[in-house]
Amino acid sequence: MAFVEFSDVRKTYRMGEVEVHAVDGMSFSIEEGELCVIVGPSGAGKTTVLNMLGGMDSCTSGTISLDGREVSSFSPRELTLYRRYDVGFVFQFYNLVQNLTALENVELASQIGRDPLDPAGVLAEVGLGNRLDNFPAQLSGGEQQRVAIARAIAKNPKLLLCDEPTGALDYTTGKQVLSILQRTCVEGGRTVAIVTHNQAFEAIANRVIHIREGRAAAVETNSRPAGADTLEW
Ligand SMILES: Nc1ncnc2c1ncn2[C@@H]1O[C@H](COP(=O)(O)OP(=O)(O)OP(=O)(O)O)[C@@H](O)[C@H]1O
Ligand SMILES: [Mg+2]
Repeated sequence: MAFVEFSDVRKTYRMGEVEVHAVDGMSFSIEEGELCVIVGPSGAGKTTVLNMLGGMDSCTSGTISLDGREVSSFSPRELTLYRRYDVGFVFQFYNLVQNLTALENVELASQIGRDPLDPAGVLAEVGLGNRLDNFPAQLSGGEQQRVAIARAIAKNPKLLLCDEPTGALDYTTGKQVLSILQRTCVEGGRTVAIVTHNQAFEAIANRVIHIREGRAAAVETNSRPAGADTLEW
């Protein structure tokens, strides 16, 4: 069994008379330690997939599993624990707590972890060892996103989920953030899934899952991915 398994997953949103098939029979797997890029056009179902994988949304049918446990059959209580301990999230717009420093933002997450990493150590890992006492408003967008990555990693999750993590950043800063996510995977041995509409990101992945209209249209694996610093788009 693969580390992550999506098996014939469907998600249907009902809005009055209208049914939206956001995810429409999706199957794919991700191996432990891989950097996986999930790519597809707007509306293809990428965020829906990530939210279901992260236990923030339920599926209508099918099965979702992580590390041998069936997430799609978890009770609400089990889902709370799963979100708390097993998955880390990085969003497009950072979502930091504005009146806490960088260090305090990361501590907030590490304090709820079962086997957390040292907050200052993780901030050093993302290149912010000298910005611990800065508030989000004192940091650039790229630096705030690095704090958000440190926060997600500090819980020591089994899986790091990133939804358009460079979406709000300029080209150079976006590349830096991708490099950090790649390093987190290659050097830190963490399993990372990045959702994006940017096809250039495919080059840095061990596995690329192409999503179209709620289905995994194609999957490619790459044993020798490019370094994020060499990407151009
Ligand atoms: N809560 C919801 N209620 C109704 N429809 C929804 C809901 N969430 C998503 N959808 C619909 O499901 C489809 C997939 O949405 P999703 O957000 O997963 O796409 P996406 O691939 O992440 O797009 P983008 O690249 O624009 O972020 C879209 O048609 C969207 O309108
Ligand atoms: Mg989305």
